[in-house]
Amino acid sequence: MKDKLEQIKNKALKMLEGAKDLNFLQTIETNLLGRKGELTNLLKQVKDLPNDQKPIVGKMANEVKNEIVDIIKNKIVELSQADKISSTPLDMTWPGEPAEIGHLHPITQFQRKIEDIFLSMGFEILEGREIETPKYNFDLLNIPKNHPARDMWDTFYLEKGLVLRTHTSPMQLRAMETRKPPVRLLVPGRTFRHEATDASHETTFHQYEGLVIDENISVRNLLSTLESFFQTLFGKEVKIKANGSYFPFTEPSLEVSMSCLICHGEGCSVCKKTGWLEMLGAGMVHPKVLKNMGVDPEKYSGFAFGGGIERLMMLYHGIDDIRLSYKGDLNYLEQF
Ligand code: FA5
Repeated sequence: MKDKLEQIKNKALKMLEGAKDLNFLQTIETNLLGRKGELTNLLKQVKDLPNDQKPIVGKMANEVKNEIVDIIKNKIVELSQADKISSTPLDMTWPGEPAEIGHLHPITQFQRKIEDIFLSMGFEILEGREIETPKYNFDLLNIPKNHPARDMWDTFYLEKGLVLRTHTSPMQLRAMETRKPPVRLLVPGRTFRHEATDASHETTFHQYEGLVIDENISVRNLLSTLESFFQTLFGKEVKIKANGSYFPFTEPSLEVSMSCLICHGEGCSVCKKTGWLEMLGAGMVHPKVLKNMGVDPEKYSGFAFGGGIERLMMLYHGIDDIRLSYKGDLNYLEQF
């Protein structure tokens, strides 16, 4: 009888394993556990066994029965779920999984913030080309060939004598080919330098270039324009100051700094304990450059400035490494 039980158990397990639908499961259950089922019959015979065998075989038969009942229960759940999925009608009108939508890169967002402020001050926004000729990148900006000032910008030279523009200043000349003073222009755009990278230097970065030409334009106009810009951007009272500098295309040339917003001029690690943050290069447009623009330096004067968009953005958002912007790291990008 023990062997018979073992046989029934093994056969039942095999059939249950292969059961693919609920009807078949029902048939197996009836054949085994129904009124005239194989296992039921066997259980009935236990009472005819000798007394010493009854409890042993009876226990074994009940264990086999319970095991089979458990397996059948689990199988019913499994097959009913599969049945439910396959019998759910396909609703073509059900909305799909929403596609993940990205957003503008933080640099583009910040560039647009800069553009909006200058637009509100009556500036025209222009974009230039990223591949330039040395004529526009250097010559017309009063940096002739072999002039040591060319070394101020580590240049990527391309085929056919072209260069990747090292600054947005060439657009001063290109813009003035189709314009006459008075002008107020802002040129944001990508620039390139063959430089070693670190927390504040990239080989590819963005600049915003300003050019204003009119009668009687002075350094005072330059400084008050920049002061308004920084004040609107940061939404706080901002002081600026200018130190002498050198650029071949401006005379005088200035380096403009802004009072440190972190320590309010007291001196901290961000401003290297000076209370001032260097923001951009600027100056009055050199008379030679005005002439190259076809503008009469006797009648008109102008100011120009050029700053780094990433550097400004780092200060604005408290970012401590410029390279984060170009890594394509979603943990960083999704914070904007
Ligand atoms: C210029 O590029 C001048 N064309 C600016 C100018 C325009 C002066 C008009 C006068 C009149 P400079 O090389 O200093 O200047 O660069 C300007 C700004 O670009 C710097 O203040 C800095 O903010 C940013 N910058 C320069 N090099 C890098 C770099 N490798 N990575 C990130 N930002 C940079």
